[in-house]
Amino acid sequence: MGKIIAIASQKGGVGKTTTAINLSSCLALEGKRVLVIDSDPQASLTFGLGMRKNGSSIKGLYEVFIKKASLKEAMYNVINNLYLVPAKIDLFMAELEFFDTEERERMLKVVLDDYREEFDYIFIDCPPSFSILTLCCLVASDSVIIPVQCEQLALEALRIFIKLLWRIKANFNENLELEGILLTMFSRHLTLSRTIAEDVKKVFRSKTFNTVIPRNIALSEATMNGKPAIIYAPQATGSIAYMELAREILCKYEY
Ligand SMILES: Nc1ncnc2c1ncn2[C@@H]1O[C@H](COP(=O)(O)OP(=O)(O)O)[C@@H](O)[C@H]1O
Ligand SMILES: [Mg+2]
Repeated sequence: MGKIIAIASQKGGVGKTTTAINLSSCLALEGKRVLVIDSDPQASLTFGLGMRKNGSSIKGLYEVFIKKASLKEAMYNVINNLYLVPAKIDLFMAELEFFDTEERERMLKVVLDDYREEFDYIFIDCPPSFSILTLCCLVASDSVIIPVQCEQLALEALRIFIKLLWRIKANFNENLELEGILLTMFSRHLTLSRTIAEDVKKVFRSKTFNTVIPRNIALSEATMNGKPAIIYAPQATGSIAYMELAREILCKYEY
């Protein structure tokens, strides 16, 4: 049965979307059937996977929420084994329109549970906020990957976010687990970067992925060009790191 993993943090710019693009495409390249869902109205994941059209002919998560499309109708094949449910700007409306709906936080869960058999992994790229949309994503998920950028003071924000996760677990989704903390944008030669990585590992040792994602411009360039880095620049250090992360996850669940 497929695993549903949210990639989330209340902070923006920490590497959520980059991780969603590159982890999902590396797992697809390894032969897994993968679905990735863009739940951020800013649609960076959608853009980063090369979908640049935005018209009404494109169905996205908003249409799924308002039942104008089934999840299947809003799925687009990106590369072999990888499917995307895009976001468009109209997803901003979802928060306002669904604010009063009963069971609004279960909307995504109800939809996704039907697709667990079809995919090995379903990733959800979350918005950078505590919002109804984020709550929807976390209620639908089995676990959460929290990217931590090794360039900002991270520990306090991380503690706050993990507290929030345990609250959601207690109140909405008892199955929710912390999949792992992912150190991103690591620069070996920066003292600050090393200090942050050491601090996070000290406090959350068993919950931090062994794989660390380096700061690597090829990751940004690939996203700007609408391609997963492993296809755009397969030899780049960032591409190799995301493939290592994919294998770390596969080792945990498949071998
Ligand atoms: N490891 C990395 N090395 C270099 N640039 C990165 C890396 N990870 C992310 N970026 C860049 O940093 C910016 C923010 O990353 P993004 O994944 O969009 O964060 P979030 O989704 O958390 O807001 C983007 O421009 C992205 O291309
Ligand atoms: Mg993002």
